[in-house]
Amino acid sequence: MEAAWSAADTEVFARYGDAFVPHRRAQIDIVCRLLADIPVPRVLDLCCGEGLLSEEYLRRQPDAEVLLFDGSADMLAAAERRLERFRPRFSAVQADIADRGWRSATRFGGVMTSLAVHHLDGAGKRELYRDLCSMLEPGGMFVMADLIEPAGPLAKNLAADEWDSAVRSASRELYGSDEAAEVFEREEWNYFRLPGPDPLDRPSSVAEHLTWLAEAGFVEVDVVWLYAGHAVFTARKP
Ligand SMILES: C[S@@+](CC[C@H](N)C(=O)[O-])C[C@H]1O[C@@H](n2cnc3c(N)ncnc32)[C@H](O)[C@@H]1O
Repeated sequence: MEAAWSAADTEVFARYGDAFVPHRRAQIDIVCRLLADIPVPRVLDLCCGEGLLSEEYLRRQPDAEVLLFDGSADMLAAAERRLERFRPRFSAVQADIADRGWRSATRFGGVMTSLAVHHLDGAGKRELYRDLCSMLEPGGMFVMADLIEPAGPLAKNLAADEWDSAVRSASRELYGSDEAAEVFEREEWNYFRLPGPDPLDRPSSVAEHLTWLAEAGFVEVDVVWLYAGHAVFTARKP
């Protein structure tokens, strides 16, 4: 990909992610619930970051194992530190989500991903969905939490306002001040406030995701949660 997630992004997100991601705990809970009944207890955490999804999934599923995937060695190292108590139930691979070399791996019961697929353009997402479908066992689940592109300016303004307000509340709750909200504004983290197009963040609409997932061969394709321009999608391989 031409534009890249930077070390500075990693630092800011690692420090303030709990405030920047709207209802982060609720999203993690939903992802884990959707993966509770999969054909093989082996899950790929695509662009795992610090491993929050994997941590909760491994905690809930004592027989499960996870493959951590990220492009950043720092993020993978942070995830491995976080998951230390679950050794040897995880392994790690460093690769670019846009490459296809890693997509020959198979026999996953589930794939989960949060806040990463929007870095791919439309064609990249369609190709990813097709490849992930072939990597899953029959009955396997794909669960994605990510930014979406609102369909018009009204919905975009609403998403921008909701995101600002969610970060302000979380900042006060977690830090007792506007510290995280101020960084969020200074770093121009609210994608929905930017004039666009942005070379790094390229969310797609809900309708596009649903169409592309179905085209890729998934069934039970759905959006199960949406707030502040953040959505959780689910899809099952037949
Ligand atoms: C916003 S963080 C989300 C991390 C984690 N999934 C979470 O929700 O806490 C985005 C993650 O995607 C990774 N990433 C960004 N671009 C990538 C790429 N092209 N290939 C692989 N990983 C990438 C970053 O290193 C980072 O860990």
